[in-house]
Amino acid sequence: MPISIKDLPGSLGFGAEVEGLAIADLSDAALRARLRQAWYDKGVLVFRDMPPDPEAQIELTRVFGEIELHPVLEMRARDHPELVHLKYRPDDGDVYEVDGEIRGGFLPWHSDLIFVDRINRGGILRITNDLPNGGQTGFVDKAVLYDTLSEEVRNRIETLHIVYRANFDSTHKKFGQQSQSLRLSRNIQHAQEHLGRYSPVIHPAVFLHPQSGRKTLNISPWMAESIYEMPGQEGDDLLAELIAHCEDDRRAYFHKWRPNDMVAWDNWRMLHCARGVPPEEARVAQRTTILGDYAMGRIMPGEAAIADEARITV
Ligand SMILES: [Fe+2]
Repeated sequence: MPISIKDLPGSLGFGAEVEGLAIADLSDAALRARLRQAWYDKGVLVFRDMPPDPEAQIELTRVFGEIELHPVLEMRARDHPELVHLKYRPDDGDVYEVDGEIRGGFLPWHSDLIFVDRINRGGILRITNDLPNGGQTGFVDKAVLYDTLSEEVRNRIETLHIVYRANFDSTHKKFGQQSQSLRLSRNIQHAQEHLGRYSPVIHPAVFLHPQSGRKTLNISPWMAESIYEMPGQEGDDLLAELIAHCEDDRRAYFHKWRPNDMVAWDNWRMLHCARGVPPEEARVAQRTTILGDYAMGRIMPGEAAIADEARITV
């Protein structure tokens, strides 16, 4: 059966839905190239009716690149080290108050690994339990975000860099949507006790995405601390304005998970977030990580290098 690739609803200017894909067909080089191109063009692909197993997820991930193993052994799935478990359970998981609502497993808008100098290429996410009441994953296209800036702002930010500092408790997010942690998972508590391992890093505010040839507004709202070249109030005001632009839900796609979905996103092109679930419900995700380094990140000048074991992916 031929596969169909059609745009996501909503005329958002990014994203596509893939139907009719059989894992056995991935041995076809032309099909792999077509999927890769769609991923580069659209930034995020929603695969429907996939086999509900880790092998299929691993196989699909290899279409887009080499798999990166998580540096923290405890984060790897026992039988499949290529997979990372991202769990929220009522008895252990991060609980936040956001916009007056209590949410389990909430994550603000971000790029994965923005708090280190090397940003992975992408990932594929799969949810292994039913989510009747939420648990959506949001995506927004940094190329669309760039295109919708005024020319004046584009000119202003062209050569700037953003400073990021690791902090896994989003209560400490400095700009944009605010939240308050009510409980942190054991993993995040551990990471918070070792924040000293992370030196601040800088990433360019504008990045030319290599495959699509489009400029992106390369800003992750979560963990953004300041503008490197503008450390004062003027820079903070500009960064607050840029982050409000990134977090405008009118430009976002929120994926409502159906059973047997897999979603592949280009981490160099997309921001994503987890809206969270009612705190008494679980959300169990498995993610693969696609290896890569866009080679634009730097340790903040004068700071120590980051040890490889400190590279925890959120
Ligand atoms: Fe993430």
